[in-house]
Amino acid sequence: MPASHAHRRPIATLLVAACAGALSCGALAAPRTLAFEPYAVPTSGSIALAVREGAPMDGALAQVDAATQGALSRAIAAAKFRGKRDAKLDLPGLGAYDRVLLVGIGSDPVTPRLLEDVGGTVAQAVASAPDARVDLLWPGTETDAAAHLAFGASLGQYRFDKYKRRSADDAAEGARGGMLVLRTPAGAGAAQAWNTQWKPVADGVAFARDVVTEPGNLLWPEEFVARTRKAFDGLPVRIEVLDEAAMKRLGMGGILAVGQGSARPPRLVAIRYDGGATGQAPVAFVGKGITFDTGGISIKPGDGMWRMKYDMTGAASVTGALLALAGRRAPVNVVAIAALAENMPSGTAARPGDVVTTMSGKTFEIISTDAEGRMVLSDAVWYAQQKYGARTVIDIATLTGAIVTALGDEYAGLFSRDDALAQQLTAAGASAGEELWRMPLHPSYAKDLESPIADLRNGGTRSAGAGAGAHFIGEWIQPGTRWAHLDIAGMAWRETGGTPTSPAGASAFGVRLFDRYVRDHVETRAD
Ligand code: BES
Ligand code: ZN
Ligand code: MN
Repeated sequence: MPASHAHRRPIATLLVAACAGALSCGALAAPRTLAFEPYAVPTSGSIALAVREGAPMDGALAQVDAATQGALSRAIAAAKFRGKRDAKLDLPGLGAYDRVLLVGIGSDPVTPRLLEDVGGTVAQAVASAPDARVDLLWPGTETDAAAHLAFGASLGQYRFDKYKRRSADDAAEGARGGMLVLRTPAGAGAAQAWNTQWKPVADGVAFARDVVTEPGNLLWPEEFVARTRKAFDGLPVRIEVLDEAAMKRLGMGGILAVGQGSARPPRLVAIRYDGGATGQAPVAFVGKGITFDTGGISIKPGDGMWRMKYDMTGAASVTGALLALAGRRAPVNVVAIAALAENMPSGTAARPGDVVTTMSGKTFEIISTDAEGRMVLSDAVWYAQQKYGARTVIDIATLTGAIVTALGDEYAGLFSRDDALAQQLTAAGASAGEELWRMPLHPSYAKDLESPIADLRNGGTRSAGAGAGAHFIGEWIQPGTRWAHLDIAGMAWRETGGTPTSPAGASAFGVRLFDRYVRDHVETRAD
């Protein structure tokens, strides 16, 4: 929007109206407040309806059609709207309604993911619309279904505009906010399911997206720690922070080597949440947290380097997942570990050829200082097992460009030697809408990582780059530990487009997946 609109109300209003429904509109409206109300079909105002493909004009559709003297069915016919999944029909000013928004849901069975997409689609479609209140009608009686609509709406209307200067008008607009009211017969149970079960997950996703989007000059290891402490304020967790001195005492040469080139020292954060049986070993989620990856002395080319602010997505996602689990008081013991460092070239930076001793005693030779994710994770996964006694370790990292080449932005790469764990994570990803594709860990990767002077080297010469990275991290996993590695380099950031529940920008990939994995496979387990 042009800056000159600031003191010209009517024009500003027109511009807002003109970009209603467009996702790329620059208006700085605040997200809508979500509320639940009993099911009823309003006869005016702004409403949104989910339409099954090929379904007859009955229920709410018939009522709205009658209230508009057939204008709704004429619009549907004229637009050839069939209710196909993802199809949308936005009808402003229909009869006495300010807006009737139809969202197609296809003819497949209704799943939580579908409901989340409906919520997200509606929230995004009305994000910059002037409508003070939008009622989303859902006739289903299940409390969980209504909660998933709200979950999707919350995820879909995420925005990050704190560094955009607001005009006075925008600020007033934002302060007024707007509402998205979910009208379902599910009653008070829906609001409760949302508040106790799903809002904590949405909060975890929002936290992770926020810290990922922060640029490198405004978010560095210590600042990540400060944000984390603030986010967990009042929640039943214990937070342990290792500074450089503590890491030196423990011999964490891997993370120290990555951090030593930066003026901003590295940190390791462990967040422990014990909601399960006393004494039960925790599941550990371990995240790569490079607050900016220049490549170090093995410096990256300049093109698109700015994106490397998102190289701490793994750390953000494990932290967001713990926020979700602690927030919904999941009956499990878990620990999240964030391995935080800034990878910079300088006179104190690690060099290619340097030999590093990690906490486990194992040494490696640095072939590329740009293969820093595996260096910080070697110490972090070891610490998860040693200090926290984790028997299941799942690490998550924007580790390699090679996984982007292999899987693009549809799947994250999953590496594991444990078939059951791989299967559980794949299933959890499918239900959460954060999908995984299993990749191999061929024994030959070990040969590729042999060093003539140290136990290993941090990069190979062969072409299975993502597998080599995974193999390297696996060298710090003890026998008997269940382990999986997720390479999310292609999933962490969406440049354009976006989905109903993940707008362009930081996705926070992993938060929903880990929450789902815990719900379906850890909460129910007895060992
Ligand atoms: N953070 C990068 C990987 C990355 C690339 C993430 C593209 C997101 C998008 C990682 O630290 C890296 O630089 N990996 C190297 C490894 C190589 C030096 C063995 C790579 O993939 O080139
Ligand atoms: Zn990196
Ligand atoms: Mn790198």
